[in-house]
Amino acid sequence: MNTIEELIIERIKPTQDEYQYLEEIFTRIKNHLENYLRKHGVEVEVTLQGSVAHDTWLHGDRDIDVFILFPKNIEINELRDKYFKLVAKACSEIGLVEFRYAEHPYVRLKLDSVEADIVPAYKLNSPNEIRTAVDRTPFHTMYVNSKLTREMKNEVRLLKKFMKSIGVYGAEIKTKGFSGYVVELLIIHYGNFRKAVEEISKWRAPVYLNTLGSEEEFRKIIRKLRVKYRDSIIYIPDPVDPMRNTTANVSIRNFVKLVLASNCYLKNPDPLFFEEGVRRNINLDELNKLVRNRCILILYFNLYEKLAPDVLWGELWRTCDRVVKVILNHGFNVIDYNVWSDEKNRAIILLELDECVKNYLKLYKGPEYWSINRVLDYIIKHIEKKSIGPWIDNNGSLVALGTRKFTDIRELLINRAFEYLVAPHFRNNKPIVKIINHENISDFIGDDELFQQIQDFIVKRPVWMEKCIG
Ligand code: CTP
Ligand code: MG
Repeated sequence: MNTIEELIIERIKPTQDEYQYLEEIFTRIKNHLENYLRKHGVEVEVTLQGSVAHDTWLHGDRDIDVFILFPKNIEINELRDKYFKLVAKACSEIGLVEFRYAEHPYVRLKLDSVEADIVPAYKLNSPNEIRTAVDRTPFHTMYVNSKLTREMKNEVRLLKKFMKSIGVYGAEIKTKGFSGYVVELLIIHYGNFRKAVEEISKWRAPVYLNTLGSEEEFRKIIRKLRVKYRDSIIYIPDPVDPMRNTTANVSIRNFVKLVLASNCYLKNPDPLFFEEGVRRNINLDELNKLVRNRCILILYFNLYEKLAPDVLWGELWRTCDRVVKVILNHGFNVIDYNVWSDEKNRAIILLELDECVKNYLKLYKGPEYWSINRVLDYIIKHIEKKSIGPWIDNNGSLVALGTRKFTDIRELLINRAFEYLVAPHFRNNKPIVKIINHENISDFIGDDELFQQIQDFIVKRPVWMEKCIG
């Protein structure tokens, strides 16, 4: 075993006090919910799931996953309505309650310093009886606990922390990365952190990981998964429910990040690969210099209603993709883009272009010469518009130099907001559009979180990348 990894394990594994504390909180929730529901005529089993049940959680974590297992003769609609309400009522007697919705409703309960996700599900004998996505979870727990040894649990923690540090941990739309369960499957498959990182460093998309055992069965399933999940980059069948790809939503960006960071780690195993939220110290002077001669834009949205995170991030990315398309359609060049939100009051889109102001004239490419009717329309249009040309260039293409509707990117983004504000919760919400330059960069300093995002966008290079060169 390598000493750096031993050292990190000591840092990230929970303490005895933490184990005891979460155990106590869970027992309180369990007793309360079971008694409450019994009084209301239903026998349930309140169970601990997720990383606390798998013993793969990290030091400092205070989230637990609590699943209430209901008898399977209860109708799904009844579970989601009548029984869900009972659960919420019961929870509100012991802590603060927030309603959540994934594919299935659940409750986020704040109790002391713990955040517990309380999920109503079914008590089932076999994965064949699964009715909703949440029904898989107890089977995941059984599977993981039957496969992971005590040492391997620490290896899971290492890989989780590594992924968190480089920003690829979490399967939600916000991140489009790797779930905790996938990290567990990777360690089960590769044996330990070191081996996993070595193998990951050699990954080339698409990646297929046999989590099923039999090679024949695996090939059969992969053939089907490739049809069901056309756009996936990695295929890791869920051993508990093989027709589900556990890495369906991993983005190409996160895939590449993980592969590159793994290579860098092997070259230079630095503790930095296990630290979250590491920031460079950049003073305002340096930042001023960095923004000079660049075209960096911020679109700032005030949020007026609380949205489920998956909805918010989904719509924010959709809006961002539209913005990029609109900009490209107007002949500007987008170099980089990103989004961020605090999930409460504000959301932003950050953009970098090669230039913010374009020449007054723009080259308009015409149709192919053999499409004669379209060619004639094109000629008429440009003569009427008093363009320069059209003419036939040295490659045989019909072209004309016409005037541009927008020479200034800000003007374009303000005037054409309707073209990109199509997502339901952004439709009537025009953003504030600003070009970030050395004169106004200091205006953002007051807003710490936002300023960090802007700074990262300006600097671009991830901190861990500096460790690639030893
Ligand atoms: N789960 C899943 N797929 C997801 C998210 C969650 O199957 N995309 C299930 C898994 O069975 C997982 C459980 O829900 O064990 C709890 O999910 P979560 O809290 O997100 O992950 P943990 O494994 O508990 O990891 P963490 O330490 O980050 O809480
Ligand atoms: Mg969890």
